Amino acid sequence: MWALGAWVLLGAVGAGSAQLQFSAVKSVEQTMCNKTVILPCIVTNLVQKNIKDMFVKWKLEKKEFFSFDGNTEKTIRNNNFSSAVLESVQNLNLGIASLTISKTQAVPGNYSCEVTESNREGETVIELVYRVEPWFPQVESILIILSLVLAILLYWIQLGVTVSKETTSWGKIGLIIAGIILSVVAAVGFILLVPDGFEPKNQAGLGLIVLPAVILVPLQYFLLKIAFKNNLPVYKILVVVLESVGYLIAVIGFALCITACPSKNGAVVIAGLAIMALTAVVGLIYVSHLGFSKKDQPPRKAVEEPFNDSKGVMLE
Ligand SMILES: *[C@@H]1O[C@H](CO)[C@@H](O)[C@H](O)[C@H]1NC(C)=O
Ligand SMILES: *[C@@H]1O[C@H](CO)[C@@H](O)[C@H](O)[C@H]1NC(C)=O
Repeated sequence: MWALGAWVLLGAVGAGSAQLQFSAVKSVEQTMCNKTVILPCIVTNLVQKNIKDMFVKWKLEKKEFFSFDGNTEKTIRNNNFSSAVLESVQNLNLGIASLTISKTQAVPGNYSCEVTESNREGETVIELVYRVEPWFPQVESILIILSLVLAILLYWIQLGVTVSKETTSWGKIGLIIAGIILSVVAAVGFILLVPDGFEPKNQAGLGLIVLPAVILVPLQYFLLKIAFKNNLPVYKILVVVLESVGYLIAVIGFALCITACPSKNGAVVIAGLAIMALTAVVGLIYVSHLGFSKKDQPPRKAVEEPFNDSKGVMLE
């Protein structure tokens, strides 16, 4: 009787330990930045701790796509999961049966990991969740867009002031066309950059925002040149130099960001574009207050009588 009780008790313990147990991760998240995905599967109560006695199976929605036989160290995989490998075969005897899959093959869903050790076995289910998120934090994309919009807007205002004051200026059409091209390209860039994700279109968007902004540098130079009637004082060239520095910083930021996921250097792009916008403010001050007043007529008169002003140019 007493012996029977002990036997039943032992039997119960034995039955309990015939079941392998797992660490309790129920789901993992994958974002667009994961190049590979690790599905965790960790057995916590292995006894033999010998790979030769172990067998691992992975299933997606009940369909087996991967198996590893510890005895022969042979792996069998379904074609759709050709990238799947055990995260660490040498640690399988410690219970680590986690699976690594490439980003493109890791479809979201419920994966089950089935581990056998001799006559003991167990199964755990891990849900792989795909979380879509923006490449840049929202504040950063807003600031990137805002600084370029500001830089372009200030260009248009400078151009407007120049056109209203300077009737004879050559190349106005060219300046307008360049401005239109830049504005359209930037708008396309905004549309491509903003949606969530880290895809070629988002990268192209950032490229279209940053790289063509170089046009603003010569445009600023021409605007000042018109405003100062070709006698551009050397220290005003500094505006153009500063604008080039801003562009350079923006391009460095672009280079740092373009392949980085998650992006960490959006601030550099913002700083570069913001410097370009700020120099455009200085350019606007020069163009509207100083430039045209270098002539005999005060600027107010120049606005009212553009014809006289232009005559003054021609006399020169
Ligand atoms: C994706 O990457 C993040 C950050 O590196 C990591 O914490 C997470 O576990 C990864 N997700 C998967 C499913 O591997
Ligand atoms: C995975 O299983 C959970 C719980 O059974 C369920 O709520 C969820 O919808 C499943 N996920 C997928 C992608 O089928």
